[in-house]
Amino acid sequence: MTAEPHGGTLVDATASRPDEADDLPALTLTDDEYMDLEMLGTGAYSPLDGFLTRADFDNVLEDARLDDGTPWSLPVVFSTEGDVPNQKHALVHDGEIVGSVDVEETWLYDEDRWAREVLGTTDDDHPGVRRIRSLGETLVGGTVELYVESEEAGYERRYTPREARAEFDGNGWHSVVGFQTRNPPHRAHEHLQKCALETVDGLFVHPLVGSTKEGDMDPGVRLHAYDALLDEYYADDRVTLGTLKAPMRYAGPREALFHALVRQNYGCTHFIVGRDHAGVGDYYGSYEAHDYLREFEDELGVEPLYFEYAFYCHACDGMATAKTCSHDDEVRDNPSGTKIRRAGRRGENVSEKLVRPEVWDVIRDELRGESAGSEKTASLRTGGS
Ligand code: ADX
Repeated sequence: MTAEPHGGTLVDATASRPDEADDLPALTLTDDEYMDLEMLGTGAYSPLDGFLTRADFDNVLEDARLDDGTPWSLPVVFSTEGDVPNQKHALVHDGEIVGSVDVEETWLYDEDRWAREVLGTTDDDHPGVRRIRSLGETLVGGTVELYVESEEAGYERRYTPREARAEFDGNGWHSVVGFQTRNPPHRAHEHLQKCALETVDGLFVHPLVGSTKEGDMDPGVRLHAYDALLDEYYADDRVTLGTLKAPMRYAGPREALFHALVRQNYGCTHFIVGRDHAGVGDYYGSYEAHDYLREFEDELGVEPLYFEYAFYCHACDGMATAKTCSHDDEVRDNPSGTKIRRAGRRGENVSEKLVRPEVWDVIRDELRGESAGSEKTASLRTGGS
C-alpha cells in the first residue's frame, strides 16, 4: 500500500492538446518552469494544481504552508515581465505549446524577502539566490494543464507518480523508502539506503536530473553510476531506480521537506534525510533539515528517516555513524562529494571504502571528459559556482 498523496488527492492536470491552444495568447516557459509544469501536471506537487497565487506564495514564504494551512515549503512559480491579462494562456517551451495556464493574478514580488525566508540568505554566492534573481519581475498564478511530456533522451526511466505507485504495488511492496540525490553514489549513500531498506519492503532511488549548480556532476553520470552500483550490490527485486526531472533549489531544510512531500506523492511511505540534505556551502547546519522536518512530522503522510553523518571506519571494518562507532577520526574515511570530484579531476584514485570501484570507473571517465553524458546533459545546468 503506497502513501496517501499530500493533501489527500493525487492531482492529474494532464490533457490532450486542444486545437484552440494555437489561438490563445502565449507565455514562454524557462527550462526550470517547464520541469515544474510537468511536476504539477503529473501530480508530483500535489495538492498544487498550478503556479502559486499570491496568498499561497506569501504564506509559503512566511510559514511554509499554503493559504489553507497545508504544509508546503518552496514556491512553485511562473515569472514574466510586465502585465499579463487574467485569462487562459498557452505555455510554450522550445517553440512548442506544452500546456496552458489559466491566469488568476499577477503581482510584483520582493526577491530579497523570498531569498531570506526560503533560503535563509540573500547572498549572491548561493545558487538558489542567483536563481531567484534571474527571474522576471512579475509572478503569474493560476491552474495549469500539461499537454505533452518531454521525451528527453537518457531519462526514459522517469516515472510519473502514478507509474511509480503502480510499480510499487506490482512489486507487492507495502512500504517504500525514497532517496533523493544529486550526486553519484558513494558508500555513505549506499549505507543509508541499505539501513533503511532493512526495515521496509522496497527502495526508490530517485536521483534528481533537473538543473543543478555548476560543479555538481552531470545528471547522466548519476544514472550510469547508479546502474553500475545497483547491478553489482543490490537485490533486483527490492529497488526501483527512477529519475526526478525537477530543478534543485539548494534550500536545505525547506527543500528537505519539499523533497519528502514530493516522494510521498510518488507513493513513498518513508524518506531518507541525511546530513546537510539539499545543502550548499555552509549556509545550513548539518542537521538543520532534521529539526525542520520534525516540526511538520505529524502532518506528513511520509515518515522521515533521519541519518547522521556516515563514514567508513577501518577499526570497525565497515560503514558507521557516530551512533554506532566511537573510534577516532584517524581511522575513518570520510566521504565527500567535493573530495571525490577533486580526486577524479586530478586523475587520483579514491579508496574503495568511499566509492565502489564500478562506480568510480563511471565517475573517473566522466571527469576525464570521456563520457558522452556530459554533452547530452550540459544544457540542463544553471550557472553558478
Ligand atoms: S542532496 O542535495 O540531494 O541532499 P546528496 O546527493 O549528496 O545531496 O545527498 C543525498 C542524501 O544523502 C541526502 O539525504 C543527504 O543528506 C545524504 N548524505 C549524503 N552524504 C551523507 C553522509 N556522508 N552521511 C549521511 N548522510 C549523507
